Amino acid sequence: MIITLIGFMGCGKSSVGKALAGKLGWDFADSDSLVELGEQMKIPEIFSNYGEKRFRELEYMYIGKTIDRYDSGTAPGKHQERNIIFSLGGGAPTYSPTARLIKERTFPIYLKCPVEELIENLRIDGTENRPVLAGHDLETRVRQLVSEREPVYSGCAGMVIHPYSITPEIIRSIRFR
Ligand code: S3P
Repeated sequence: MIITLIGFMGCGKSSVGKALAGKLGWDFADSDSLVELGEQMKIPEIFSNYGEKRFRELEYMYIGKTIDRYDSGTAPGKHQERNIIFSLGGGAPTYSPTARLIKERTFPIYLKCPVEELIENLRIDGTENRPVLAGHDLETRVRQLVSEREPVYSGCAGMVIHPYSITPEIIRSIRFR
């Protein structure tokens, strides 16, 4: 089974996903790292060299490749059941081909946080590596993007949950296909 974690930057997709995968003994991947590794470039460089549109196309391509590997049973390693927790970049579902892909072929979980919590986490994390936020007033920009994206996340999600509330038992109880 492929569980995708979606939600706004700073909601904890990667840290929650990694911890869950560890407890479940499942594989873990993170789309930002796959793009960076594959392109040998950091995300801000991809945005500044090629623009956001190209980044969304690349993101779609790398997400698709991982889904194909786990869907077709050719994933390496010991996990015969081909289970993975796959954390996606916060903007991935805003590109409709990616939204379609994750809705049709994975079980998407929307890790939903109050906007104040996101702002607080992003203040701590910093925005240098997040080109959609860098150079903007953090609070105004986060509130604007959250209101634009909320319907996208909700429309994609098979489950909506606060990141602190998700447990391995909840994941094990999911039936997909
Ligand atoms: C983005 C979120 C980032 C990364 C890129 C764009 C977005 O991922 O993919 O900077 O548009 O929300 P995280 O959600 O892991 O920070």
